[in-house]
Amino acid sequence: MSTMGRYTLPVEQTEWKFEGQTEVCFRWEYEDERKGLLELYDKGKKQQWDASTRIDWSQDLDPENPMGLDDRMIAIYGSPLWDKLNAKERAQVRHHQQAHTLSQFMHGEQGALIATAKIVETVPGIDAKFYAATQVMDEARHVEAYSRLLHEKFELCYPITKGLKTLLEQGLSDKRWDMTYLTMQILIEGLALAAFQRIRDFAQNPLAAAVNAYVMQDEARHVAFGRLSLRDYYPQLTQAERDEREQFVVEACYHMRDRFNQWELWERLDFPAEECAAAVMESDQMKQFRTRLFTRIVPTVKDIGLWGPIVQKGYSDMGVMDFAKVDAAAILANDDKVAEEFDAKTRLRDSAVAAAAE
Ligand SMILES: [Fe+2]
Ligand SMILES: [Fe+2]
Repeated sequence: MSTMGRYTLPVEQTEWKFEGQTEVCFRWEYEDERKGLLELYDKGKKQQWDASTRIDWSQDLDPENPMGLDDRMIAIYGSPLWDKLNAKERAQVRHHQQAHTLSQFMHGEQGALIATAKIVETVPGIDAKFYAATQVMDEARHVEAYSRLLHEKFELCYPITKGLKTLLEQGLSDKRWDMTYLTMQILIEGLALAAFQRIRDFAQNPLAAAVNAYVMQDEARHVAFGRLSLRDYYPQLTQAERDEREQFVVEACYHMRDRFNQWELWERLDFPAEECAAAVMESDQMKQFRTRLFTRIVPTVKDIGLWGPIVQKGYSDMGVMDFAKVDAAAILANDDKVAEEFDAKTRLRDSAVAAAAE
């Protein structure tokens, strides 16, 4: 069945086209490459994988709680509304909320696919074009993996949220190449890493955990790509140009933090949307989650040199300054390691199955 049959809203109602600005840049210097970017390109080539073979799609999800997540991760958990629900209704909330979250991952991945294809066109260095080309393939695989999880296992999809759509449109409508990176590789992918991590580390279902672990292994390279490219470029800009970018970062961060009310979900479930959105904003669990979303973004923003008074004030007001102390490179290296541990577990299980069959 096509996505159309899975959607909570018909696909034709939500189709999205807009005029994206692009300045195409050819590069005739083929040998002036930066070591860091070439090493990353090399890693990108070697770490390509096939979503249909690395992931064991024969595993099923529990219809009552597909990804096997703790109920405390449900945005309205503990509210009077949640307390009134019976077991069947709670199962429906789990199914829908998890599909809503994964749908945003899937749409964000399509955004990354398009943004990175744009970077191939617009970025000046051939080394960055090389790396971005490997990322385009990564993003296609990510769309494939989330879409398969939603279509085959959840049999349910939600349309893109307004918040994600606005941010994507801003990043893709700006013809300056660094703004695509700043929107995608630094902000959206930084945020995505924190959201994926929550599932990779807490999902009891091995299929859901594995999809997120493998996607994260690639995303860690993508964030590193943004860091390497912008870290060289931002010191060359004027203070006014950096200030403009800092302003954009702060506004986008507020926007991302405050968009997590899951309005479409409550409407679809026929719950009182305002009451639910208020419960989401009040929930301690969600408050913590909205703060933790910035663990990956803050150290990267500091590292690329957007660390003037505008960003520092914004992050102090949001209460996320402490994340500036996080060692961004170490945390990205750990994402790589965790994905390899998932591979090792699969190999162990496969050899146990083979031994049992002998
Ligand atoms: Fe991705
Ligand atoms: Fe990515």
